[in-house]
Amino acid sequence: MASILVLGCMWGDEGKAKIVDYLALSADYVVRFQGGSNAGHTIVSGGRKYVLHTIPSGILYPKTKCLIGAGVLIEPPAVIEEIKTLEKAGISFKNRLLIDFRAGIVLPVHKQIDLEIETGRRGIKIGTTRKGIGPAYSDLSARFGIRIEDLADPINLRERIKLLYNYHRIRITKQNLEQQVEDLQKNWRYLKKYVGDVEILLNEIAAKQEKNILFEGAQGTLLDLNFGTYPFVTSSRVMTDGVGIGTGFSARRLNKVFGVYKAYTTRVGSGPFPTEILDETADYIRKTGNEYGSTTGRPRRIGWFDAVAGKFSARINALDNAVLTCLDVLTGIEKLKICRGYRYNGKIHRSPDLDNSRIILSQPVYETFEGWDTNISNCKNINKLPWNARLYIEAIEDYIQIPISLISVGKERQQTIKIKAHKR
Ligand code: GDP
Ligand code: IMO
Ligand code: MG
Repeated sequence: MASILVLGCMWGDEGKAKIVDYLALSADYVVRFQGGSNAGHTIVSGGRKYVLHTIPSGILYPKTKCLIGAGVLIEPPAVIEEIKTLEKAGISFKNRLLIDFRAGIVLPVHKQIDLEIETGRRGIKIGTTRKGIGPAYSDLSARFGIRIEDLADPINLRERIKLLYNYHRIRITKQNLEQQVEDLQKNWRYLKKYVGDVEILLNEIAAKQEKNILFEGAQGTLLDLNFGTYPFVTSSRVMTDGVGIGTGFSARRLNKVFGVYKAYTTRVGSGPFPTEILDETADYIRKTGNEYGSTTGRPRRIGWFDAVAGKFSARINALDNAVLTCLDVLTGIEKLKICRGYRYNGKIHRSPDLDNSRIILSQPVYETFEGWDTNISNCKNINKLPWNARLYIEAIEDYIQIPISLISVGKERQQTIKIKAHKR
């Protein structure tokens, strides 16, 4: 039995789902512990593309069970639509999905507030996914939130929605209120068969020590509510410790933590991005890597690999291993750069210990590497990679001080190079 965590180490979209899907071959359970439909997790299998938002990336394996922990946000109609779309693609959900009864829900008011902030009528524009994530998590923290178990009782639900609108000082008509209660009741009738106690299940499975559990992170460490580039972050706890917070299965019990990095860096939304590039190399990477948001379709911002941020992520997540994805996307670029420090006011910072205004004014300190131009997307062995690609990988390993155990060279499951364990 093993319990493994795969989480993003940068600003999200590192290719977590591709890696979770790859590792899920030997998993009995795949578990989401934070985030909600702001996540866009892409799996390409047998030439077919699936984009998952709330459903864990183990769903493509017919025998794997998918669990959604208490820390995940559920937007009922969106989750129902996701299930129906996957069912249409031939995926069965029978006895395969369990949502913790404690999971909070996203209501229309949360999306309304998110949109109002993003369109400039209140607060700072973060460039959110507009899925209502920030407002829904804040309401849960303020103890005005509504959890999925609350959908079972329409009388209580009506009162709770009324209270919530009052709390936000937003008027709701009687008709709108009744409509929302009715819609949520309909959603509940559909979803209730999937609702139960994920905490008990996980701890029981762990006690028996027979099954493999794979935890799937959403977003990335630099979007973590406490340790990310605040306030340009998401509203959940993204790090290793989020597993315990979001499922009730303590992170102390994890056997292994894999941190996923892209071979370059991307970010969607606003906020500091020290290694961002805006030239034709960025356009080339965006085009070759199809760097457009899986949830919103927005073009992703592109940058060189940021080893300062990368090392910080490795440290706060207590990584055992790193995974490098999208190495193939860099093929054909003559010179590659890795940022090994932020220069601010004459001093070089090797950890992101600067606030946003200083990060924006800092200059990345780069080391330059020769690129390669041989197609690597069918490579199965690290020794067969071009020499310059190996030097680039080794440099990243040295900077983040974590051994890289998997390298992804394409979207498909089999386009993955496994590296034998080696001592550093
Ligand atoms: P996630 O949110 O971390 O799961 O990542 P996304 O699915 O949002 O974005 C990653 C994108 O990169 C998706 O389009 C994947 O299909 C793609 N991808 C993942 N690994 C590789 C890789 O090694 N090479 C290439 N070319 N694409 C990859
Ligand atoms: P996956 O799981 C990349 C970003 C948004 C915005 C900030 C806050 O696919 O890696 P939110 O809607 O969460 O309130 O937005 O976080 N963001 C992501 N960026 N990948 C994601 O998820 C993201 N989820 C949120 O762009 O900057
Ligand atoms: Mg994504």
